[in-house]
Amino acid sequence: MTKTLNEALSWRYAVNQFDTEKIIPEATVTAILEAGNLMPTAYGLQPFTFVVISDPTIKESLVEHAYGQTPVAQNSHLIVIAARTDIDESFIAEFTARIESTRGLSSGSTDEYKAIMVRDIGSRTSEERIVWAKRQAFLALGGMMAAASMLEVDNHALEGFNPTAFDGVLGLKEKNLTAGVLLALGYRKETDESQHYAKVRRSLDDIILRM
Ligand SMILES: Cc1cc2nc3c(=O)[nH]c(=O)nc-3n(C[C@H](O)[C@H](O)[C@H](O)COP(=O)(O)O)c2cc1C
Repeated sequence: MTKTLNEALSWRYAVNQFDTEKIIPEATVTAILEAGNLMPTAYGLQPFTFVVISDPTIKESLVEHAYGQTPVAQNSHLIVIAARTDIDESFIAEFTARIESTRGLSSGSTDEYKAIMVRDIGSRTSEERIVWAKRQAFLALGGMMAAASMLEVDNHALEGFNPTAFDGVLGLKEKNLTAGVLLALGYRKETDESQHYAKVRRSLDDIILRM
């Protein structure tokens, strides 16, 4: 029987040991990526790229830049959600042209929207833009984690890594990208003890402030 979203989120945990013999079918990986693509972002700009790594050698070379965390390599697929570092007027124009073509709008009908975005984004420093892009990347991360859990694909997010080193290994700088957050996907090892740990969460009463 299909799990509800909350059942799937209770089932998932940060996997310590993936079974590297088990590879996720490509259609399932695509469904997870599509969930990330469907997540909303500020203005709808999606200022990130999903770098999908299945090559074990590449993944192994990243472990030393992630404090030796083995789930970075020992998984089926590693997704690096990379923030764009080239969020400028032409990036925004590309987006508004896509709105016009997707919705069959006349050319120039999104000019006002474009001007608002250019003004807002233009008022931020390049560092602030990257911080903002990384915030958007985390929304995609959440969507992909939820989707993977619904599809019974184990998942582990990782922020403990050196973005500069990752950018170097993966050649992201040249592509106007910088590593934002990692998502390791695969299937838990039966012997992974962490799956038996009770989930630690605040109570709803504690986490909610009602007004
Ligand atoms: C954005 C993010 C970054 C994380 N980074 C790391 C990490 O670098 N190393 C690690 O061992 N766990 C990392 N975690 C896992 C969390 O510690 C874990 O998800 C949390 O303790 C809740 O446990 P659960 O996922 O098993 O429910 C990260 C989780 C998230 C969502």
